[in-house]
Amino acid sequence: MKTDLVGITGRKEEASKEKDMCGIESLNRQDSLDSIKEDGIATFILTFTLCNVRKIELSKAAKVFEMFETEIHHFETRRAKKSKNSADDLDIFVECEVHSTDVSILITSLKRVAEDVKTSREDKVPWFPRKIQDLDECHHLITKYDPSLDHGHPGYTDLEYEKRREFFADLAFNYRAGDPLPHIEYTAQETATWKEVYTKLSSLYPTHACTQYLDAFQQLEKYCGYQEENIPQLQDVSRFLKERTGFQLRPAAGLLSARDFLASLAFHVFQSTQYIRHFSSPMHSPEPDCCHELLGHVPMLADKEFAQFSQDIGLASLGSSEAEIEKLATLYWFTVEFGLCKQNGLIKAYGAGLLSSYGELMYALSNKAEYKPFDPEVTAVQPYQDQAFQPVYFIAENLEDTKVKLQNYAMKIKKPFSLHYNPFTSCIEIMNTPQKVKRALCQMKEELKTLCLTFENLS
Ligand SMILES: [Fe+2]
Repeated sequence: MKTDLVGITGRKEEASKEKDMCGIESLNRQDSLDSIKEDGIATFILTFTLCNVRKIELSKAAKVFEMFETEIHHFETRRAKKSKNSADDLDIFVECEVHSTDVSILITSLKRVAEDVKTSREDKVPWFPRKIQDLDECHHLITKYDPSLDHGHPGYTDLEYEKRREFFADLAFNYRAGDPLPHIEYTAQETATWKEVYTKLSSLYPTHACTQYLDAFQQLEKYCGYQEENIPQLQDVSRFLKERTGFQLRPAAGLLSARDFLASLAFHVFQSTQYIRHFSSPMHSPEPDCCHELLGHVPMLADKEFAQFSQDIGLASLGSSEAEIEKLATLYWFTVEFGLCKQNGLIKAYGAGLLSSYGELMYALSNKAEYKPFDPEVTAVQPYQDQAFQPVYFIAENLEDTKVKLQNYAMKIKKPFSLHYNPFTSCIEIMNTPQKVKRALCQMKEELKTLCLTFENLS
C-alpha cells in the first residue's frame, strides 16, 4: 500500500447512505457537512486552471469527473488570468454534485491533471467512516499497477489472468461488512506459484524475521493451513486474528487509496487482496497480492503491540488533511511495510514489504543498506521508493517504543475534534462535548476499578 494516487478508480454501489446506526451525532455542520444532503450527496464549487487545453488536458479532467459519476450543474470557462504556457490556458468554474465519500479523492485526482485547484470544501473535514459498515464505501483503487493498464506488469496481455483478476475484483466490490469472507478454489498453477514463494521466503524467516513474526507464523502453520501446498483462506486467517488481537480481514480488489486503506485499520479491519501474482514472476509483484498479505502482513497483525500500532495509524488518519494522510502513509510505509527492529543485539525485519520479498529482505539486512533510527517526524517526510529497494530503512528500538512515538506524533495532528473508538459497537465516537468525554472517562474508570481489584486479588 502506498500513497501515489496516479490513476484512481472506484466502483460505487448505491448512492444512498444509511442513517447513523450507532446513534453518533454528526460533526459540527459548520465544520464539515455544510453542503452534504441527507442522502450523502455533496454539492460544491471547484475552480481550476487547465494548461494547453488543445492537447489532452481537457479530456483528462473530464475523465476524473466521469470516474466519480459527478453530476455537473454549471460549467464555465474563461481565458486564464495567469496564463502559464499559452493562450490555450483556461480557468474553469464547475458547480457539481458527488457522493460525499468521493469528495476528497475527486479533488486529489483533479490536482493531478489541473493547476490551482480550489474548492469551497477544501478546508472542511474530509468524510470518514464512523461505523464498520461504512468501510463498504472505502474501496477506491489506485490503478497504477493494474495488470491490464501497466505495460511493466508481468500479467500484461495475459487475457486469462485478466479474467481471473476480474473475478476477484467482483468478489471484493460486492462484499459487504458482515458477509462471510469468500472461499477461493485456487487453481493448480496458482498453488504452484504460492509454493515457490512460500518455500523460498520461509527459508529466510528464522534468521531474518523478528520473534513476534516467528511465533505467529508457527501458529498459522498449525491452525490456518499455512503450508507449501495450500494457499490459506482469508476466512480461517481472519478468525485466527480476531481471537488474538481483534483484527479481521475483508477482501480488497487491489491497491487501495491511502485514505481508504488507513481508515479501515481504525476499525481493526485489514483490507486484503485474494488474488495471486502472475505465475511468470513468482519472486516479484508490483502490487499487493495474497503472498504479500498472508506472508507479510498477517503474522504481525497477530501481535497485540503491533495491532495497536496499526489501529493508531488508522485512527490518526480519520478526517486528516491530504498532507497529513501523505505523511501517515509514509510512516506506514517505513514501519508496517519496511520496518526493522532491534532484537537481542541484532536487526530483524517486521515490515510486510520485506517479509514478502526475498531479494529486499536479504538486502535490508545486508551491510549495503542504510539505516536511521525511527523518529516519526523524520520518517514521515522521507522520500520512498515503490519500484526498487528502499534508500533507507528505519530501525525501531522495539515495537512498544514505536507505538508510543506514533501516538505522540498523532496527538499533534490538528483536527477540530477528538475521536474515540468504541470496541463494543465498532464505531468511532466524536468527542466534541464535555458530556461525551465524561461518559468515556466513567467507562474507563469502571474498567480500571475492576482490573485493580483483580490485580489485588492475584497479589
Ligand atoms: Fe502491504
